Amino acid sequence: MVCKFLTLWVLYVASLSSLTYCYQCSERLSDGYCVVVNVTEPYEEATFPQNETLIWIRNSTIPVFNRTLFTQLAGVEYLLVNGLQIEQLHLDGCNSLEVLFASYNAIVRVSAVEGLPLRQLHLYHNQLTDVSALQVLTHIEQLYLHDNLLESLRFDTFSAMRELKILTLQRNRLRTIAIGTGNKLLVLPRLEQLYLQFNQLPHLDTGLWRMEHLRVLDLSHNQLGYLLTFLEELPALRKIGLHHNPWHCGWLYGMLERLEARELDADDSAIGYDDEASCPGLRLDDRLCCYENASTPDPVLLLVTRTSIVDELQQQIRGAKRRIETLEEAQRKQTHQFGELAGRLATIEQLCAQRASETN
Ligand SMILES: *[C@@H]1O[C@H](CO)[C@@H](O)[C@H](O)[C@H]1NC(C)=O
Ligand SMILES: *[C@@H]1O[C@H](CO)[C@@H](O)[C@H](O)[C@H]1NC(C)=O
Ligand SMILES: *[C@@H]1O[C@H](CO)[C@@H](O)[C@H](O)[C@H]1NC(C)=O
Ligand SMILES: *[C@@H]1O[C@H](CO)[C@@H](O)[C@H](O)[C@H]1NC(C)=O
Ligand SMILES: *[C@@H]1O[C@H](CO)[C@@H](O)[C@H](O)[C@H]1NC(C)=O
Repeated sequence: MVCKFLTLWVLYVASLSSLTYCYQCSERLSDGYCVVVNVTEPYEEATFPQNETLIWIRNSTIPVFNRTLFTQLAGVEYLLVNGLQIEQLHLDGCNSLEVLFASYNAIVRVSAVEGLPLRQLHLYHNQLTDVSALQVLTHIEQLYLHDNLLESLRFDTFSAMRELKILTLQRNRLRTIAIGTGNKLLVLPRLEQLYLQFNQLPHLDTGLWRMEHLRVLDLSHNQLGYLLTFLEELPALRKIGLHHNPWHCGWLYGMLERLEARELDADDSAIGYDDEASCPGLRLDDRLCCYENASTPDPVLLLVTRTSIVDELQQQIRGAKRRIETLEEAQRKQTHQFGELAGRLATIEQLCAQRASETN
């Protein structure tokens, strides 16, 4: 109905002003997606199929995907816009969107407004160098950023993502991951999988991480010589990829012992494997390569990390002390009340005794 009217209207005004186009599902996929093809500018007047919650845009070139288009797609919950040569993605106006696939584009810039309900964002195979604008996506559960051009990262980009379960960052060009200002702890209470393999990280301070549910951590194929961790901050760890790094032999030896203590060494798939042929250094446990001339743990960095851990512990102690004081205060009050009660009971007993002797 809407479409027919618009089509007539288009015919009527086409010669006068810009074209209005009414897109329809050119195909319906078995998983429910309505396929829309040949989307072109101008987007302001476009109408998309009504009441569709799953839309796949194909056969189109859309350099800027922004509020103008998202507004036309307002009711869509699942949107697939892979491979449309998108260069800029501005997440704005997509107030129902929960899952967005925008991989295999050429996205160099991404931005987002606050309060979006987005749960999954697939942005792999793009050209992103900066993802800090994504920090407002506080409902995000799965964030895929692998195969981009990221060189540095601030972990506070993710610190408000309390629901984040999966974060993929592999095959970027990461050289630094800053925790943020003042060596604050990075708390990601629900994170289960973190992928950092195939980057160029020279060090990583996991001592400041608080990831209670992290099961999988892949650090393979980096430039790591050591990690500032005893693994206590990752109690749920089941799998840690360590291979293809220039590990410091002394450090690796200690790490493998800790992993063994955690029963994380049961099979190679849990930790990884360096081929003998690809290892010019020593091979520990017949498994991981290490170097006697590798970079050694920097005591200054270690100190910084441990200082904030001590701060955290002291805060916990202060909290516990306050709780004890509250309890003691409550107990004092109770003791006082017991005392009063006992006094009153004694009085009553006395009275009773008096009565008894009087009546006798
Ligand atoms: C989309 O464009 C192509 C090429 O211009 C054309 O062959 C095809 O029929 C168009 N499809 C629709 C649904 O308009
Ligand atoms: C869309 O859904 C609404 C409410 O369910 C209904 O009134 C309307 O007719 C539907 N529109 C189309 C084009 O199906
Ligand atoms: C997609 O575009 C190509 C060439 O532009 C065309 O041959 C093909 O029919 C289009 N597919 C659809 C589904 O419109
Ligand atoms: C979206 O991008 C187009 C360019 O493709 C531009 O004309 C339009 O003004 C932009 N819309 C908004 C809301 O920024
Ligand atoms: C350690 O020595 C090897 C050669 O034995 C060399 O290739 C490598 O670059 C050295 N690494 C460091 C960190 O000095």
